[in-house]
Amino acid sequence: MKHEPYSTRRNALLKRIGDGVAVIPTAPERVRNRDSHHPYRFDSYFWYLSGFPEPEAVIILVGGKEPRAILFCREKNEEREVWDGFRYGPEAARDAFGFDEAYDFTSFEQKLPELIANRSALWHALGHDPAWDTKIVSALNAVRAQSRAGKRAPGELYDLRGTLDHMRLLKDSYETKIMRHAAAIASAGHACAMRACRPGMVEYELEAELGYEFRKRGADGHAYSPIVAAGHNACVLHYIENNKLLAEHALVLIDAGCEVQGYASDITRTFPVNGRFSGVQRDAYEIVLAAQNAAVSEVKPGAPFIAYHEAALHVLVQGMIDLGLLTGSVDGAIESEAYKPYYMHRTGHWLGLDVHDAGDYKAGDDWVRLEPGMALTVEPGLYIRPAAGVPEQLHGVGIRIEDDLFVTTDGCDVYTSAPKTIAEIEEVMRRD
Ligand code: GLY
Ligand code: MN
Ligand code: MN
Repeated sequence: MKHEPYSTRRNALLKRIGDGVAVIPTAPERVRNRDSHHPYRFDSYFWYLSGFPEPEAVIILVGGKEPRAILFCREKNEEREVWDGFRYGPEAARDAFGFDEAYDFTSFEQKLPELIANRSALWHALGHDPAWDTKIVSALNAVRAQSRAGKRAPGELYDLRGTLDHMRLLKDSYETKIMRHAAAIASAGHACAMRACRPGMVEYELEAELGYEFRKRGADGHAYSPIVAAGHNACVLHYIENNKLLAEHALVLIDAGCEVQGYASDITRTFPVNGRFSGVQRDAYEIVLAAQNAAVSEVKPGAPFIAYHEAALHVLVQGMIDLGLLTGSVDGAIESEAYKPYYMHRTGHWLGLDVHDAGDYKAGDDWVRLEPGMALTVEPGLYIRPAAGVPEQLHGVGIRIEDDLFVTTDGCDVYTSAPKTIAEIEEVMRRD
């Protein structure tokens, strides 16, 4: 049934909140300029628990002996639907999305005090959206104002994110399927960009190839602002201007992923604009690829999250020494952080509804241990800005290789598949 994964998650959350009450709003529509809006994107927590796509909606989960899942959403409105499209309305939404009750969103603020009254605890993503924090505080005050009538406001407030983040860290079978689909589309998009690339094009032409392929294959669009960075631009980690020429002998780094049913893919590939790696580009590329392979072999159940970063870092630092960027020993360079000018980010992150997905990385002082069902990226890089002592032929070389992985029962599954080895890339870019 359509609502099954969502109602299963709501029921799991209801168990965790005991006889408390949880409030989970979706994101507001956001104005871009004057009366134009950004394309609407629901809130990830709300989506995780509902699959309901409309703005102006909030879920209330009332725990206890007779748990209830309640949706507040927009009423049907034939006039607005002529302009803006279909709205479920509470009744149809309740049935289609498996809620016990549903009401008009405009009645939410009036109904909230009675829903939270006499509950021991209130759960909400405190601080996530100040407008909602205000609504919650108003409702608490409204209940307190009725104390002489025997109403009691919840005495405990919990940040819902701790619990939901923990749930979101382990992907269920529905999520896994969607994420594989998003990964397949993004992989195809990267291969298309490689095929289309020619010296003299502009970075945005490759961005257009990716966007076209994503949409043509049914993705909702980019999961984040795509990076198409030729030559020196690849050394700017969040470069998104994407408006410079692709010089014949440069490398181009593309970090782009698509969103499918709310889930992100996140892939980076780096390839030569003219389709053939030069000697020095080859040397640097092989170092990053070896670092990625070393990292991937550390992604397995029981491994602390940081282990794959450490494995990649070790290979990268040895490579920096081999390239003449650093002197001394690998351990010494890691200890002194002398590598940081060339590798300044962590080797990956959780992946899911958010590209940098929910979930803690540490439990107390210890790194979280990997478990089957977790999804993460492995993305080592090497960024060589021109500087005194840096061999000139390496100036402006920026390389990152990023794939998406699931932790499995006996290791991991790399589920992105864009061309990656030098042979694969040169083959797909062959011009004859
Ligand atoms: N595209 C964002 C990242 O790779 O983390
Ligand atoms: Mn990433
Ligand atoms: Mn990325």
